[in-house]
Amino acid sequence: MSKILVFGKNGQVGWELQRSLGLVGDVVFLGRNDQDGDLSDINALTARIKAEKPEIIFNAAAYTAVDAAESHQKSAYLVNAEAVSAMAMAAKELGALLVHFSTDYVFNGEGQKPWTESDRIAPINFYGLSKAAGEKAILESGCKAYIFRTSWVYGVHGKNFMKTMIRLGKSREELGIVSDQIGAPTSAEFIADVSTWLALHHKIERPEIVNLVPSGETSWYEFACDIFANMEDHGLMVKKVKALSSAEYPTPARRPLNSRLDNSKLISMMPPNSIKDWRHYSKRVLNEILAL
Ligand SMILES: NC(=O)c1ccc[n+]([C@@H]2O[C@H](COP(=O)([O-])OP(=O)(O)OC[C@H]3O[C@@H](n4cnc5c(N)ncnc54)[C@H](OP(=O)(O)O)[C@@H]3O)[C@@H](O)[C@H]2O)c1
Repeated sequence: MSKILVFGKNGQVGWELQRSLGLVGDVVFLGRNDQDGDLSDINALTARIKAEKPEIIFNAAAYTAVDAAESHQKSAYLVNAEAVSAMAMAAKELGALLVHFSTDYVFNGEGQKPWTESDRIAPINFYGLSKAAGEKAILESGCKAYIFRTSWVYGVHGKNFMKTMIRLGKSREELGIVSDQIGAPTSAEFIADVSTWLALHHKIERPEIVNLVPSGETSWYEFACDIFANMEDHGLMVKKVKALSSAEYPTPARRPLNSRLDNSKLISMMPPNSIKDWRHYSKRVLNEILAL
C-alpha cells in the first residue's frame, strides 16, 4: 500500500479523489481548513510533506476563480505557482511522485487543432498564466510528476456549469450560452479515476504532461443543450437556449476559443477502450445529480 498525501480534498476533483483513492493506500487528505492544508502557507506545506514522507502527492487544490484571478493576482500566483513549486521541490527531495492538475487555459485558443502536450503555451488570462508558471516549476524541478491538463471540469460535488444549467434550465424563460468556445467537458470522477490509475500503474521517472480529457468535443452551448435533453428524459421541462458569441458575453478574463486537448497520449497509456466520449460521463453525472 502506497503512502499518499492529497491537497485540496474539498474541490470537485479532490472530492472524487477521496473516493478513488479511498481503498488503495494509506491516504492523508487535507483541505484548506485542515492543519497544513492551506497552500498559501508554503513553510507549513513543505514541512508537512517532509514529515509525512508520502510516495505520492496529489495536488487537487488551486485558485480556480478565473475572473477573480485578474484582480487577485498575488493570491492566484501564490497557490497556482509558488505552492506548486514548493511541492515539486519537496517531491524531488523525497523521490515522491507529484500528481498535479493543469488546464487548457495555458493555451491562447487560436486555430482549430487540438493542442498536444508539446505545443507552445501562451496564456491569455492571469489564471492561465499562474497555472503555466506552476507547470514550469514542476518541469524545472525534475521531480517525478504527472501534469494532467484538463478542461471544463464538472461533477456532483461543487459549483460547475452542469449544476448551474440544471438550476437555470428549470427557472429561466430563455438562456444565452456561448457557442464559439470549443473543448471537452470533463467529469471530476473521470479525472480522479484516471489519475489514480496512472499514478498507481504507470511508473514515470521525470515530469510528464498528459492531456486528461475524454474523447470528442463540443461548445458550451451544445453542452447545455445536451444537459437539457437529458433533463427532458427525466420528465423535466426546460427553457429555450440561445447561442451567443464570446463577444456578446464579456467576462473580466478572456477565455480561449480553441480549448481542444488532444487525448491520444492518454489513450495510449490507459487500458483499451477506457477513455470514452464526453457524453458518456456527462449523462452519468447528470443522472446522479438529479437523483440527489
Ligand atoms: N474547474 C475547471 O473547469 C478546471 C478546468 C481545467 C483545469 N482545472 C484544474 O483542475 C484542478 C481541480 O479543479 P477543480 O475543478 O476541482 O477546482 P475546485 O472545485 O475549484 O477546487 C479547488 C480546491 O482548491 C482549494 N483551494 C483554493 N485555494 C486554496 C489554498 N490556498 N489552500 C488550499 N486549498 C485551496 C479550494 O478550496 P475552497 O473551496 O476553500 O476555495 C477548492 O477546494 C485544478 O488544478 C484546476 O486548476 C479545473
